[in-house]
Amino acid sequence: MSAIYTPSQDKEFFTPFGPMLGFYRMPPDLVDQLNAKMSDQLADHSDHLVGKVTQELRFDEELVQIAAQGLGQTLIEYHIRARTRCNFGDYDHRTKRFALDIMSGWFIRQFENEYNPLHIHTQCHLSCVGYLALPDGIEAEWEDDYQDHHPSHAHLQFAHGTDVHYSVCNFMVKPKVGEFWIFPSYMFHCVYPFKTKGERRSFSLNVSINEENVTAPAAPRQWSL
Ligand SMILES: [Fe+2]
Repeated sequence: MSAIYTPSQDKEFFTPFGPMLGFYRMPPDLVDQLNAKMSDQLADHSDHLVGKVTQELRFDEELVQIAAQGLGQTLIEYHIRARTRCNFGDYDHRTKRFALDIMSGWFIRQFENEYNPLHIHTQCHLSCVGYLALPDGIEAEWEDDYQDHHPSHAHLQFAHGTDVHYSVCNFMVKPKVGEFWIFPSYMFHCVYPFKTKGERRSFSLNVSINEENVTAPAAPRQWSL
């Protein structure tokens, strides 16, 4: 059944439509830990991915555990906030138990002139990307690119729907080491090439979050847009 929203103020402006993105600044320790575990010994994952990049290496069990430890809480938080918003606040996460299922994780090792074509992730609820390294000197390239009216070198771009008044249909992310973005798995995205020699290293996870009902004491519900 649809959740019916009843305004509680005399005047409100709200955003009931469209997907939600999540952002988290990872602790430097987590970035170091993931970088330290990056190795050529990891399995090649490129047959499952569309990237036109040098290497896509699948996380082993240890890396999945590191990711779950460092990011699980934030991923579940995204799920709770998105579910709460979709139900206009009529969703009490305290009546649920959440199980984080990281189906897969992988490093993306992108070098100069490489790119990641427009794609989605399948067979999971949400996906995410975290930045682990950027080529030395890319700031100079960006300085130049930002003189243009549409900078995009090495950027991640999300696209959703089409361009309509009072709404946006695309969202550009300038990568920064330590930054982590969460998005629904069906959301189209791509990564643009760059020219600076060196590695742009990121990782992604395909995740599902499963809910189980539990009893919990009633408490005021909150819904923030
Ligand atoms: Fe992707």
